[in-house]
Amino acid sequence: MDMQLENKVVLIAGGAKGIGAAIANSVAAEGGISVIVDRDAAAGNKLCEDIGAQGKRCGKICTDLSSAGQCAEAVEQTLREFGALDVLVNNAEIDDTIELQKGSPAEFESSVNKSISHYYNVAHFALHALKKSRGCIVNIASKTATTGYDVTSGYAAAKGAILALTREWAVELLPYGIRVNAVLPAEGKRLTRPEEIAATSLFLMSAQASHITGQHIFVDGRFAHPDRAQTSAPHAEGK
Ligand SMILES: NC(=O)c1ccc[n+]([C@@H]2O[C@H](COP(=O)([O-])OP(=O)(O)OC[C@H]3O[C@@H](n4cnc5c(N)ncnc54)[C@H](O)[C@@H]3O)[C@@H](O)[C@H]2O)c1
Repeated sequence: MDMQLENKVVLIAGGAKGIGAAIANSVAAEGGISVIVDRDAAAGNKLCEDIGAQGKRCGKICTDLSSAGQCAEAVEQTLREFGALDVLVNNAEIDDTIELQKGSPAEFESSVNKSISHYYNVAHFALHALKKSRGCIVNIASKTATTGYDVTSGYAAAKGAILALTREWAVELLPYGIRVNAVLPAEGKRLTRPEEIAATSLFLMSAQASHITGQHIFVDGRFAHPDRAQTSAPHAEGK
């Protein structure tokens, strides 16, 4: 299957480790240019070196996306270095352990803000470039948005908002030919592997998914199916 990702510039927010790193490797394997935006400089440098050692192009930007200014700068730096932006992958995770019974209103507000703002901010600042490229956005969400977890009020609220924003942006950006989809990792009988999330993300950003937008794609070995008795016990690792 030809993904048509050769030379496409893919900004991966939170791209240095875990699922983001698997997406960066998969993009590189298809001949695309991964731009790894992450606050973990050591992991970002190492991944970029590894991708470069395979003769692939790659960029790295060490920054903390919790500031709107830094989100804007990450996009602008990508454009200065590579001249275009074809795909935005919103993936950076800022987790929390706020539970309704213990978390204060201020803690909840701060947690939601930390978990969702950078998804909006990077997309906002990337929009002018995505309009030019008629590119696309892949938002990494979580099954927690639909199943709950029990100690993650801020995270769950933010992941639910990401699903809503995926639909909202898909509608708003339809006239510009920009597709927006969400991928929901989860554990079914086992934890979804980063490479499985990467494969789905790659498909969604590829030309093969040209008629898919506004969708929430579960990659979960059937965890979110209503009949959960047939899947693993809830509360395995992974949110
Ligand atoms: N791994 C799972 O089982 C699972 C399950 C459900 C959902 N998810 C979602 O998948 C995404 C990736 O999860 P993961 O497990 O690979 O996470 P991870 O912690 O392994 O990687 C997240 C990356 O984001 C970076 N990051 C976090 N905050 C940042 C910030 N403010 N600025 C810049 N970089 C920042 C981290 O440095 C890290 O490299 C997240 O959105 C998460 O909610 C993961």
